Amino acid sequence: MPNQTANSTSPAENTANLLFSLFVFIADADEGLSAREVQRLNQMLDDTGWCTGNFMQGGLENLRERYADLWKDYQKKTILRDLPTLAEKLGTVLGQPTAPPAGEVVTALREFLDHLSRNTSPTLVRLGLVALSPAKQKARQDVDSLLAQPLADRLVQAATVMPSLVNEAGQILPSQAEACGADLSIWPAATLAYSPDLTWKRGRTAVRCVAVIPETHDVKTFVFQAIKPVLFAYKPGQFATLELPIEGKTIRRSYTISSSPSRPHTLSITVKRVPGGLVSNWLHDNMQAGFEFNLSGPNGDFTCFDAPAQKLLLIAAGSGITPVMSMLRWIVDTSSSANIVFLNNIRTPADVIFGREFEYLGMRMGANLKMGIIPGSVEPGQSWNGPVAHFSEHLVRLWAPDFIEREVFVCGPPGYMDCVRSTLERIGYPMHHYHQESFGAPPAQRAAHSASSAPAAVAAKPEVAPLAPPAAPVVSTLPAAPATTPEKVEIVFSRSSKTIYASTGDFILDLADEHDIKLESSCRAGNCGTCKIRKTEGDVEMDGQQALSETDILEGYVLACIGRACSKRVVLEA
Ligand code: FES
Repeated sequence: MPNQTANSTSPAENTANLLFSLFVFIADADEGLSAREVQRLNQMLDDTGWCTGNFMQGGLENLRERYADLWKDYQKKTILRDLPTLAEKLGTVLGQPTAPPAGEVVTALREFLDHLSRNTSPTLVRLGLVALSPAKQKARQDVDSLLAQPLADRLVQAATVMPSLVNEAGQILPSQAEACGADLSIWPAATLAYSPDLTWKRGRTAVRCVAVIPETHDVKTFVFQAIKPVLFAYKPGQFATLELPIEGKTIRRSYTISSSPSRPHTLSITVKRVPGGLVSNWLHDNMQAGFEFNLSGPNGDFTCFDAPAQKLLLIAAGSGITPVMSMLRWIVDTSSSANIVFLNNIRTPADVIFGREFEYLGMRMGANLKMGIIPGSVEPGQSWNGPVAHFSEHLVRLWAPDFIEREVFVCGPPGYMDCVRSTLERIGYPMHHYHQESFGAPPAQRAAHSASSAPAAVAAKPEVAPLAPPAAPVVSTLPAAPATTPEKVEIVFSRSSKTIYASTGDFILDLADEHDIKLESSCRAGNCGTCKIRKTEGDVEMDGQQALSETDILEGYVLACIGRACSKRVVLEA
């Protein structure tokens, strides 16, 4: 084979060969290698300050030394420019005894490619701000897929040696994803198993805030870690319910989870400050690293996990981005082959949440992610080069001409979701493929909106990884939840013929979940009324209920999600 570089043996030489081959594979994909691209490579070799790892430094140094020879090889066409050759060179680099772990190599190579294409990132290309030939776009996408492979292989290898995958007779157990019927051809990394002992159990969990990240002028992400360490397992798009000590009461409020179950050590919510909003303002003003409280979950049917499809259309506005972001992060982390169109309607350019991460997601997914971040207006003093529009039929047809073939997921303010829903209905979209975040909606509306019927208790399976050491104890300067010892109470579920002995602090809906008593629920925060049940004996207290009328209360109805028994015996018609 006339490829002179294939016989090299030094690690630095092998790395240099790979770097040069990556460069020509993309830049010369359409046989249109430009002077600007060569100049960019030269700049990166002249000033390697952009590169952080020793592994890459050695390769760049060698590339600089052999630069003229490599170009001669290129002109003589002795450097093969096809994907199998690239894969072979990548394998050679990864297989060197001195090579760093695969993840580090892949990160360094991505850093190289990102700097190389600094002015031609996939997102800029898709927004039409930079022209890049289809051949070069395809080549970059091929390289991204190639680089994803070593990581996937490594994770699968890790999973195969996990003891929790093998039963006592030495038989390999089916993964939980297989057990719950996930389509593994679309969610390949979902085959990874995890240890049940380390997994978040549905119900109440004490957590500690470990970070607060400002996202925009009025949006923050709050990151939580379980105090007794667990891996958070949930389906991307589901929600958790926080119990917060506000104004002397325990207020429950549900927020969709913005993190991904593929990164299970922490769980995040992303909250927009709502003028006059009790909980959102409290979170923005009070929640800080070290604060401890209870949260429960996961709950919710709004998830792509139960509706695997090769093509998705994700539509979000405002803080409706949070479940969609969880899905996008999960899709990228699991190297899914799904093709996504994502429409994000925002108020103005100042309201882009996760803007820089979108760039990263675009780079990771290549042509499989088409992303439209579209403000409804641009205010004086703001700069914006992209489209400006409100949600409309035109927008759907422009960004997703094949929308009919796509599974649709929508989240945003109620008026926005109504508009999206009626628009899609009007233009003939098959609504049985339509999913809309529904917590907070009245029960009748919720039933009509939710196309997914899978039980929420079956969680997506995260990657197994060693637990991070628990954070050092942090002394909270904020008011802690009351430390009174709860009394024991008897709760009778008369229709289910079950009696439970619990504490006065336990929420009725959580108890019902734990004891397999089926109660309808949605927001789990006292807002929607779905969990309304009648009490025929005893007293139940509720903080912050907003769903019951005076007549309901007179007739003895309570909300199971925020209701707690406060007499020795309570009887419920459930
Ligand atoms: Fe919404 Fe209880 S589940 S009020």
